[in-house]
Amino acid sequence: AGSGKFFVGGNWKCNGTKDSISKLVSDLNNATLESDVDVVVAPPFVYIDQVKNSLSDRIEIAAQNCWTGKGGAFTGEISVEQLKDLGCKWVVLGHSERRHIIGEDDQFIGKKAAYALSEGLGVIACIGELLEERESGKTFDVCFQQLKAYADAVPSWDNVVIAYEPVWAIGTGKVATPEQAQEVHVAVRDWLNKNVSAEVASKTRIIYGGSVNGGNCAELAKQEDIDGFLVGGASLKGPEFATIVNSVT
Ligand code: G3P
Repeated sequence: AGSGKFFVGGNWKCNGTKDSISKLVSDLNNATLESDVDVVVAPPFVYIDQVKNSLSDRIEIAAQNCWTGKGGAFTGEISVEQLKDLGCKWVVLGHSERRHIIGEDDQFIGKKAAYALSEGLGVIACIGELLEERESGKTFDVCFQQLKAYADAVPSWDNVVIAYEPVWAIGTGKVATPEQAQEVHVAVRDWLNKNVSAEVASKTRIIYGGSVNGGNCAELAKQEDIDGFLVGGASLKGPEFATIVNSVT
């Protein structure tokens, strides 16, 4: 860990019921969390209100997506204003599941990021390469192209956390090695330095996601440019998520 305050997000994805979420919230409320860490959870939209009303204020809430502008006649969408109304502070954007399963493209994601930031939400901006892209030596190209789309769209990086999530490591149990993750994080920081500014490069937190768990988080957290984690599966277990939060070094 190096830049800024350690940041750990739990992305619950499309999981949970009222009952299981109530149990998870109570486990999180009972957990001891290091004070010097930003901790955020992203429940499914329909449970945000339940979580906001029961979870300790120590943990902030993120949405897993948002619409590109003000609400209105956009069936099935959720607006930034509605998320703020429910008490969300963050939104996860550009997640690989939305890019590759739902088909969101760089421009669409950039537009959402710009609007969310302009309305005061923090953005957890995801990037990451597919297995075939890594194997054909395109990891940096893909990550830089995704970064550029954010850079072209966002008014400021003050409220942005970058999440590097190699797609081959997501939900597969196949975590990137600390060296593989560090290599990309350093490249991302270097890209920000050259293409945005030295200040943004040094201040922006770059977190890693992809099969992070209670057993592998400590080694990853030691890397100079890993400033936290975005956790999927292991964030559905309160005690294990707390272990990951507490891996800050
Ligand atoms: O956003 C977090 C994520 O995609 C990682 O998921 O289950 O591999 O920790 P998981």
